[in-house]
Amino acid sequence: MNIVLVTGSAGLIGSESVAFFSDKFDLVIGVDNNLRQYFFGADGSTEWNRDRLQNDFSNYRHYKADIRKVEELEPIFQEYGTDIKLIVHAAAQPSHDWAAREPFTDFSVNATGTLNMLEMNRLHCPDAVFIFTSTNKVYGDNPNNLPLIETETRWEIDHNHPYFENGIDEFMSIDQTKHSLFGASKVAADVLVQEYGRYFGMKTGVFRGGCLTGPNHSGAQLHGFLSYLMKCAITGNHYTIFGYKGKQVRDNIHSYDLVNMFWHYYQNPRSGEVYNAGGGRHANCSMIEAIALCEEISGNKMNYSYSETNRIGDHIWYVSDLTKFKKHYPGWDWTYDLRQTLEQIHDSMAKRLNQPA
Ligand SMILES: NC(=O)c1ccc[n+]([C@@H]2O[C@H](COP(=O)([O-])OP(=O)(O)OC[C@H]3O[C@@H](n4cnc5c(N)ncnc54)[C@H](O)[C@@H]3O)[C@@H](O)[C@H]2O)c1
Repeated sequence: MNIVLVTGSAGLIGSESVAFFSDKFDLVIGVDNNLRQYFFGADGSTEWNRDRLQNDFSNYRHYKADIRKVEELEPIFQEYGTDIKLIVHAAAQPSHDWAAREPFTDFSVNATGTLNMLEMNRLHCPDAVFIFTSTNKVYGDNPNNLPLIETETRWEIDHNHPYFENGIDEFMSIDQTKHSLFGASKVAADVLVQEYGRYFGMKTGVFRGGCLTGPNHSGAQLHGFLSYLMKCAITGNHYTIFGYKGKQVRDNIHSYDLVNMFWHYYQNPRSGEVYNAGGGRHANCSMIEAIALCEEISGNKMNYSYSETNRIGDHIWYVSDLTKFKKHYPGWDWTYDLRQTLEQIHDSMAKRLNQPA
């Protein structure tokens, strides 16, 4: 039997992984305890998405286990053992602002939880491929030291800089920079995942996400940028832009395209590799450009205000360079551009909120 085990399976990336892999594996095991609701309140609950997976995919089996607790993980790994061929580890505390509220919780989910998963992998199914959803926050605020210029709607990198053409590559330092506590706990996890590949020779891969997005995000104010923005566009709820004149740039990758990267990696894994994974030059926007697009797609004027203070350590300009991944896996490419992604988020969000699409 071939099994894929997905942590954070009711979240954005986890649920996309379940859908993507359901016809490629005999069984999809999901681990998610809806801790996202504890982090972000009702907006963040992923229960609706877990129900959807259970209804839509007959080979999906859900476990409400906590990745912080080995005693809850071990029975699952004991039961399925070497039938587990792929682990997608996407459970996390994903917000840098939230991490400062409860550093113990953040670290235990992001760092210790990842160590727990790696040990389960090593002890019960050492040949399985392990994919970790890391983050561009491992680079801390180093990107803010790049030579940036201000244009009418966005910050942009100097045209003469080597990052101008394709964005930021994996050689940017992750050291001696301000990460936020979230970034620090993800660095710990990121380096552990690399180490299990390099030290133990296991098939571990690190994917450092830019903004990950898609229709199945439970967008909340502190996490899920485009999903929450579109929710505000539809409902008329107030949205606050924090700092940088609203010209901060993020690259956005649709969850399908990211999981398709995992699929390519799974078929030909390279131990301990690190890849930047985002929308790159193909799909990126500033905050005010995103607002304009949301207004256009929803047909509503957004209700937003500007607060001078930026989020601590927030990136001013971040665009991922995917050249390395594309070189290793030339069969992969993006399938969604920004407008298509936002239109899809709009339609599914309108349905979820019971409003006309
Ligand atoms: N969304 C982004 O913009 C973004 C950007 C970069 C990196 N990432 C990383 O990608 C991964 C997936 O992000 P996402 O947007 O899908 O997050 P998400 O919050 O939508 O999904 C994570 C899921 O994990 C679950 N979870 C959290 N703690 C758990 C625990 N202790 N035990 C079991 N389940 C638990 C949550 O309930 C949630 O359903 C995370 O590692 C995140 O740090 C996300």
